[in-house]
Amino acid sequence: MTPDRPFVILNVAVTADGKTDTAARGGATISSPPDLARVDRLRAESDAIMVGGRTLLGDDPRLTVKSAELRAARRARGLSENPIKVGVISKATLRLDSRFLTAGLASVLLFTTQQTDPAQIARLRQAGADVCVLGETHVDLPAALRRLQEIGVQRLLVEGGGTLNAELLRLGLVDEIRLYLAPLIFGGATAPTLADGPGLPRDAAIGLERRAVEALDDGGILIAYRIPRS
Ligand SMILES: NC(=O)c1ccc[n+]([C@@H]2O[C@H](COP(=O)([O-])OP(=O)(O)OC[C@H]3O[C@@H](n4cnc5c(N)ncnc54)[C@H](OP(=O)(O)O)[C@@H]3O)[C@@H](O)[C@H]2O)c1
Repeated sequence: MTPDRPFVILNVAVTADGKTDTAARGGATISSPPDLARVDRLRAESDAIMVGGRTLLGDDPRLTVKSAELRAARRARGLSENPIKVGVISKATLRLDSRFLTAGLASVLLFTTQQTDPAQIARLRQAGADVCVLGETHVDLPAALRRLQEIGVQRLLVEGGGTLNAELLRLGLVDEIRLYLAPLIFGGATAPTLADGPGLPRDAAIGLERRAVEALDDGGILIAYRIPRS
């Protein structure tokens, strides 16, 4: 049976106490240089990269492939030099000069809801973004993934944050997790984690199959998990 969505890989950098940022939520760096190089390779192997609304507005990520060699290798394979940038954002108030919209040669696709002002949607389209309204208050994620599949995305990399991750996991829309566990502790009861949102009861916990573990010289650990499709 042909799957009706892309293969979804969730990449996250966490501290040893499971945080993906400090409680201040300023987009603190957790990855080491070797881990950033790994993420760059993962981006280069992906057709699209997705982030959630608060990551998009707060961190304003470029979501481009940093290595010139990896971009050239994509072009040599007949691909655009960067994967499609995808934002999942209920109210798309992002600035037209944001790095997300402007950095690098890349298509941009925003999944948003009826909460976004139609005039802002027109401005975003004018700025070159594709905007797709899928839902009243929250983006319909299964429909968003179907749309990505329809436009040729076979491999989707999700780069957080924890609210988007949690919802994709809850809906059974994640196939792999790539985790960089950094030798750091941030603490903070309100600091974000890999999967936030309301949380799951124990009997609905998501089981993971460990596929690979690698200890890095920087003191970090890379873990790859698989989530079998039910
Ligand atoms: N270390 C890492 O690997 C890493 C990676 C990325 C981000 N981060 C950190 O994570 C933090 C941001 O994460 P976050 O959890 O606050 O936000 P997020 O996951 O980036 O964005 C979540 C927001 O997306 C919107 N959304 C719309 N439809 C949705 C749907 N169906 N499901 C889920 N969300 C939907 C919602 O906005 P509304 O609430 O407006 O409806 C929701 O609050 C930042 O501190 C960032 O630095 C860390």
